[in-house]
Amino acid sequence: YALPSAKTTLPLHLLLALPTGAQGQFSLRLEPQDLVVPEGGSISVNCSTDCPNAQHVTLETSLPKEPLSSGLGWAAFRLSNVTHDDREVLCSSFCNGLQISGSFGITVYRFPDLVELEPLPSWQPVGQNLTLSCQVAGGAPQDNLTVVLLRGEEELSRQPAVGEPALVNHMVEARREDHGANFSCRAELDLRSRGLGLFQNSSAPRQLRTYALPVGPLHLDVPRFLEVERLWLANCTLDGLFPASEAKIQLALGDQMLKSQVERHGDRITATANSTARAEQNGTQEIVCKVTLGDESRETRRNLTIYSFQGPILTLSAPSVAEGTIVTVTCTAGARIQVTLDGVPAEAPGQPVQLQLNATERDDRRSFICNATLKVDGGILYRNESVQLRVLYGAKIDRCQAWGNPDPELQCVKQASKVKVLAGTPFVVRLKHHGTYTCHANNSHGKDTVTVVVNVQGEPRRGWGCRAASPGGVLPAALRAELVAPRRALNPERRAGS
Ligand SMILES: *[C@@H]1O[C@H](CO)[C@@H](O)[C@H](O)[C@H]1NC(C)=O
Ligand SMILES: *[C@@H]1O[C@H](CO)[C@@H](O)[C@H](O)[C@H]1NC(C)=O
Ligand SMILES: *[C@@H]1O[C@H](CO)[C@@H](O)[C@H](O)[C@H]1NC(C)=O
Ligand SMILES: *[C@@H]1O[C@H](CO)[C@@H](O)[C@H](O)[C@H]1NC(C)=O
Ligand SMILES: *[C@@H]1O[C@H](CO)[C@@H](O)[C@H](O)[C@H]1NC(C)=O
Ligand SMILES: *[C@@H]1O[C@H](CO)[C@@H](O)[C@H](O)[C@H]1NC(C)=O
Ligand SMILES: *[C@@H]1O[C@H](CO)[C@@H](O)[C@H](O)[C@H]1NC(C)=O
Ligand SMILES: *[C@@H]1O[C@H](CO)[C@@H](O)[C@H](O)[C@H]1NC(C)=O
Ligand SMILES: *[C@@H]1O[C@H](CO)[C@@H](O)[C@H](O)[C@H]1NC(C)=O
Ligand SMILES: *[C@@H]1O[C@H](CO)[C@@H](O)[C@H](O)[C@H]1NC(C)=O
Ligand SMILES: *[C@@H]1O[C@H](CO)[C@@H](O)[C@H](O)[C@H]1NC(C)=O
Ligand SMILES: *[C@@H]1O[C@H](CO)[C@@H](O)[C@H](O)[C@H]1NC(C)=O
Repeated sequence: YALPSAKTTLPLHLLLALPTGAQGQFSLRLEPQDLVVPEGGSISVNCSTDCPNAQHVTLETSLPKEPLSSGLGWAAFRLSNVTHDDREVLCSSFCNGLQISGSFGITVYRFPDLVELEPLPSWQPVGQNLTLSCQVAGGAPQDNLTVVLLRGEEELSRQPAVGEPALVNHMVEARREDHGANFSCRAELDLRSRGLGLFQNSSAPRQLRTYALPVGPLHLDVPRFLEVERLWLANCTLDGLFPASEAKIQLALGDQMLKSQVERHGDRITATANSTARAEQNGTQEIVCKVTLGDESRETRRNLTIYSFQGPILTLSAPSVAEGTIVTVTCTAGARIQVTLDGVPAEAPGQPVQLQLNATERDDRRSFICNATLKVDGGILYRNESVQLRVLYGAKIDRCQAWGNPDPELQCVKQASKVKVLAGTPFVVRLKHHGTYTCHANNSHGKDTVTVVVNVQGEPRRGWGCRAASPGGVLPAALRAELVAPRRALNPERRAGS
């Protein structure tokens, strides 16, 4: 303690050297007994003694001092501008010619100028420890100063303030619930034992943002191969995020950001993008899905191959030709595509393949198939095309069947009566049908004739068949029969183009 120096009337060592007990029966009092002053404040004090012959009752202090009043054995003063450095006053008096004195302490208190919680990390991972630090400067007396760390209203830690400024730390494990929580600290100056109150100064709150970004995989769903000009969809999902609302997700193809629709459900975030591959993107491209949350991000990549597949284009020199005509079948496709026409491969990828034939009756409804294959990174892509040829040929009749392209008209004439019978229509055989018929098949490309003998005999029997009516055959009565039936196409099983 810095003792008063300037205005002492006796040297200090002499004062202290006085034999105690000489004036022992008299004492000095200072009112109020507990001097508690806010720093820089003022206080009125009354120094008094019970010595009946007291003289020169005075107050020794370096503080600005203003005498207020005095009387026998007492003097009152007003002390002002009380600071932390001058906390002692000396009350003295002469009693029977000897000086008596008493020193009295002043409690100077001061609210902290600064109560501040150190900034929190912008994002704090859930499950990791976070150190809260509170700085308190300027509070006095420090013995009565406590620092409290708070989460919302909840007290996390209470520690004495030590040092100037006082630094108080406390570690907490960040939880999901702490996302959005406000942390703060409070300095408590407890002067209740000095007859004053409990004074609190709080820091500004700091809001914590916590997050959890799992290390688990991102599910990126994209096609392996993409055709130019086609619409395609990509899908990317990450589960177990917290808080999903704060997460960002991006899908990019090469260096092109894809516009995506983002959905968040609970702890899940999903981005769905659709796009159309452009011709200049052909080749292998990398698609990247990236999720960012807090200060971290996760990403996953996939390769996809963008290709252009033109063709195959399969053409006939004419779709419908007369028998004996040379037909050219051509198959072409885009660059790098290998075509094979009816098993005959083109010389090289990108080259067309051609086939020539002299059309015959048997080529009617013949299908030609062109297979096209494209080799891309990690795969082979296929595409087929087919075309059907029509060959026109003259009408023919054989064994009660008639055919031709176009379909022939059929007519039979009974030789004896010249009665015309509609061919191609089943009828019930009666005795009157007995006889010999001339049957004609006719179309734009030719005609053919056959003689059919119908020999009707005996009782009605079950059974049927045109062949029975061929020359020399016997037709049972009441049988449903045809003189000549149109035959189905020669190659009915050859399928039409796909
Ligand atoms: C100072 O104290 C004395 C003794 O107790 C008393 O007589 C006197 O009235 C007081 N003066 C003031 C101004 O309070
Ligand atoms: C109080 O003290 C300060 C600095 O110690 C000084 O500047 C100021 O003038 C003083 N005030 C009074 C009223 O003495
Ligand atoms: C957090 O701190 C506590 C107590 O000091 C310790 O037991 C725990 O292992 C720490 N947790 C992490 C994730 O560092
Ligand atoms: C204030 O500090 C003084 C001095 O250390 C001590 O005696 C007193 O108990 C303290 N009061 C409180 C409320 O802490
Ligand atoms: C934290 O403080 C902010 C701003 O003062 C307030 O909007 C928010 O609701 C507080 N959070 C909690 C959990 O009280
Ligand atoms: C500290 O608290 C006291 C009362 O509790 C108040 O008068 C004072 O202005 C506060 N100080 C600051 C810097 O807020
Ligand atoms: C998108 O995700 C859903 C659910 O995971 C899945 O069923 C769907 O096939 C995905 N779509 C695409 C285009 O990847
Ligand atoms: C493609 O995305 C757009 C918006 O980005 C959307 O309106 C459209 O429905 C999507 N199309 C498909 C087929 O998903
Ligand atoms: C992509 O297209 C360009 C020009 O269209 C062509 O030169 C290149 O060979 C193509 N690349 C692949 C891998 O198909
Ligand atoms: C994509 O392809 C490149 C080169 O072809 C390769 O280096 C890379 O590892 C592939 N990426 C993935 C995710 O397969
Ligand atoms: C096509 O075949 C028919 C019959 O076999 C023949 O008469 C004709 O000359 C052939 N045409 C050509 C161009 O070879
Ligand atoms: C052409 O493709 C068809 C259908 O995919 C297949 O059945 C046929 O075997 C292929 N032919 C050749 C020569 O690759």
